[in-house]
Amino acid sequence: MKDRRIVIVGFMGCGKTTVAKELARQLGCDFTDLDSFITEREGRSPADIIELDGEARFREIETVALRDALQEDNKRVVALGGGTWTVPVNRSLMNAHECFTIWLDAPFELCWQRIMASSNTVRPLAPDRETARNRYESRAESYELAERRIKLTESDTPETIVKELLRQS
Ligand code: S3P
Repeated sequence: MKDRRIVIVGFMGCGKTTVAKELARQLGCDFTDLDSFITEREGRSPADIIELDGEARFREIETVALRDALQEDNKRVVALGGGTWTVPVNRSLMNAHECFTIWLDAPFELCWQRIMASSNTVRPLAPDRETARNRYESRAESYELAERRIKLTESDTPETIVKELLRQS
């Protein structure tokens, strides 16, 4: 993990942003959240882009944003959006940059509880439980391609997760 860019992967609500932030804090390096990076560049959030222009257009914007974020040396820890890693061209980009990818493997129920609880974050790709569950299941195969997998439980906190990550590295 040393000296490599660290990328946090996983389903909506698994805690990518909070874990990435805590990891960056403990490593004393910069952190970026791809969704926020997109929002700054585009002047609208991923949710707005998906709702207005469709998911396909969002994926194009996301890939360009990812490519640009990976060019910036200071972006040492990156939290992806839930779908970023599932797109093959994005995985190739991260592999080309020798990113160290960590999958936060949270159970669906935990993700769903958090999706429901975060009323200030709109998630058009998880409009109801069944749609979210199907998406969760269909993505597992690609998340498994991440280099490291951390299985999460409800009692884990960003601090315990980061401790475990640093212990393993
Ligand atoms: C998406 C997840 C969102 C955001 C967009 C699409 C997805 O990010 O990128 O709404 O396809 O799973 P979070 O995982 O941070 O919610």
